[in-house]
Amino acid sequence: MCGIVGYTGCSSAQSPLLEGLKRLEYRGYDSAGMSVLGKDGILHTLKAVGKVRKLEELASQTPLEGACGIAHTRWATHGAPSEKNAHPHLDGASRIAVVHNGIIENYRDLRAELEAEGETFRSDTDSEVLPRLIAKYYSDDPVRAVEEALQRVRGTFGVCVLFQDHPGLLIAARSGSPVILGIGKGFNMVASDVCALLANSRDVIYLNDGDLAVVTPEDAEIRTLANVPVNREISRIPKEETGSGKGKYEHFMLKEIFEQPESIGNTIRGRIIPEDGNAKLSGLNLSPRELAEISRIVIAGCGSSLHSGLIGEYYFEEIAGIPAEVEQAAEFRYRNPIIEPNTLVIPISQSGETADTLAATREAMQKGATVAAISNVVGSTIARECGRGIYLHAGPEISVASTKAFTCQVTALWLLALRLGRNRRLSNELGRQSCAELQRLPELIQRVLNQYDHVAALAKKFSGMNDFFFIGRGFLYPVALEGALKLKEVSYVHAEGYHAAELKHGPISLLGENVPVIALANCIPGQEKLLGNMQECRARKSPVIAVATEGDPSVEAFTEDIIRVPETSRYAAPLVTVVALQMFAYCFAGERGCEIDQPRNLAKSVTVE
Ligand code: M6R
Repeated sequence: MCGIVGYTGCSSAQSPLLEGLKRLEYRGYDSAGMSVLGKDGILHTLKAVGKVRKLEELASQTPLEGACGIAHTRWATHGAPSEKNAHPHLDGASRIAVVHNGIIENYRDLRAELEAEGETFRSDTDSEVLPRLIAKYYSDDPVRAVEEALQRVRGTFGVCVLFQDHPGLLIAARSGSPVILGIGKGFNMVASDVCALLANSRDVIYLNDGDLAVVTPEDAEIRTLANVPVNREISRIPKEETGSGKGKYEHFMLKEIFEQPESIGNTIRGRIIPEDGNAKLSGLNLSPRELAEISRIVIAGCGSSLHSGLIGEYYFEEIAGIPAEVEQAAEFRYRNPIIEPNTLVIPISQSGETADTLAATREAMQKGATVAAISNVVGSTIARECGRGIYLHAGPEISVASTKAFTCQVTALWLLALRLGRNRRLSNELGRQSCAELQRLPELIQRVLNQYDHVAALAKKFSGMNDFFFIGRGFLYPVALEGALKLKEVSYVHAEGYHAAELKHGPISLLGENVPVIALANCIPGQEKLLGNMQECRARKSPVIAVATEGDPSVEAFTEDIIRVPETSRYAAPLVTVVALQMFAYCFAGERGCEIDQPRNLAKSVTVE
């Protein structure tokens, strides 16, 4: 979603700002802009609809010369993607520039008030009220003016403000939308995502909600919005978290699909105790007694993270014997969920910044639950606010379509179920079986990846089709949902995931020769029933693509289009199966010439509700 970069130093601001914006591109956006305080003492602004490279072209024709500036990528919420709606927004006199992430919920009232005072707005955005409000409260103290303006605002914000009258000064603040400072030698930076800082600095400070930072090239002083000084630690981002480019791959999605043996290896590294048939998850910070007291698990997430949670539900009930349920994070707090003292709530979020999942986390904490997050991004808001959980260590996931984070989430859930199970009645022997299979996952996934050319051929064969059903049972039912999500995300075709038995209860009316069904037939138990469901699809002339276990001839009666995956237990089946579906979605989108890493309308991290 929207991205913020700010730079103040002694060399040109333009290049770190553009570099930061490029690193934020993966999050999804539709316009970009930047303001720099020029050597002439005037704020200069450039904006472009579309990609950052357009802004870069403008900047190469009319360079913004100056050592202090702010920049933004906008994902439209209020007002269409257009130059006038792109950030930075300026006050009426063009002396204050603001970039903003989040939503100002009371912007209509504020705008009406400001218009009544004579302001003429230039954009349709909620964000434009900010520079105008700041101007209203500004006489000579910029910090006070920002504080006063933000006190008037209801909603969420991550902001960075640049004043024409105060060279070298950036003021940043956050409430519900991340802001991070990058600490350098002779310069400092501000960003909404650590990625935007990493080309220049690995030393970062995460602002908390309600923090305001006064940033100059030499200093970053943090206080609360109520003007109380606070100390926030500098964290050093480990080298392996800084990511690298696409390497030999054409797209990040493909790179991340192929990284899965390694990323899953990283999730399990140091966490398995084979001789005890157990897992060690020190980030949970819960004693054996506290673990034993957990009597119910509630998982909350969105999108792919919701789907991994649905697989987790099976793990917790089967392996640990603990009742588990999965909630759409967006509904969690509005449903007023019942949280008992021994409920463990697990928010799952790759980014750790998804607004709905964060709201669910806070609701659960406020209700007194034990909350342990599963997150990939170290230092993300959800991870920090929970203070306990499991980091995936999948490395940066850049493609909007989640692949390696999904499989690492599933792996982490399996590890957690194992840990909880061994705290209860799961035998050492069954625990050892899980450990052995967890350790084999990288090899099992690699065997699926080796099918890439075959999957690509299948994707080509079906690339003219516009409607797909994905069906599965048991552990593979959530994988059917995830396979359909992946396909529609990156290739823009209609795809629906269904429980195989549910097809008969309505959607079967849509089947026909132009509606292929992808049947996940490597499920044990339930395979016989799934074969019956495939038969039903064939009887309606739907072409069937089957995912089946290596060497299993049973699906051959229904189709010749088969993707083979290694034989596994039902616990590992979701992992090998989803990798086949990720490859299918990627190849299918490629055949249709789609923008794979940044699909239209989508954002990597959805920071608005
Ligand atoms: O960062 P999160 O895991 O919280 O993100 C949740 C969803 O927005 C995300 O999984 C989304 O569905 C992906 N684009 C799926 O590929």
